[in-house]
Amino acid sequence: MKALVINGPNLNMLGIREPNIYGSDNYEALVEICQTAAEEAGFTGVEVFQSNHEGALVDRVQEAYGTIDGIVINPAAYTHTSVAILDALKAVAIPAVEVHISAVEEREDFRQISYAGMACFATITGEGLQGYAHALQLLAEKLGL
Ligand code: DQA
Repeated sequence: MKALVINGPNLNMLGIREPNIYGSDNYEALVEICQTAAEEAGFTGVEVFQSNHEGALVDRVQEAYGTIDGIVINPAAYTHTSVAILDALKAVAIPAVEVHISAVEEREDFRQISYAGMACFATITGEGLQGYAHALQLLAEKLGL
């Protein structure tokens, strides 16, 4: 069973970007958390992908079809705007969990809608980078690992 973790725009700037909201750990720390958590959850492999481009995120979701068993996705700002990412997740119909590092529900009005979340069976917010480990655990349970 293979997991794919997809990260949207500006998440490569973790550690530099608004540390009061996103913490001081960098993107490499996030990748390590995902690798450790995926192994502990029983996945045979995990790929951690990041792009600042909406179309590249859509492409990566599409390419998961037939090769990936579960997706963890933080579409970042595209969460709140991208019907294209929602449609891609629905198209491949791979079990998916949405993650947000911050507690988006406590933030601005424009962050209150999540399109991608509509295609996910669970959403985790406000748990920092450990939210990715939590998401991978939920995904493993869903897949019967
Ligand atoms: C985020 C929340 C989004 O609203 C924001 O645009 C991000 C990161 C989070 O992980 O908390 O870039 O997805």
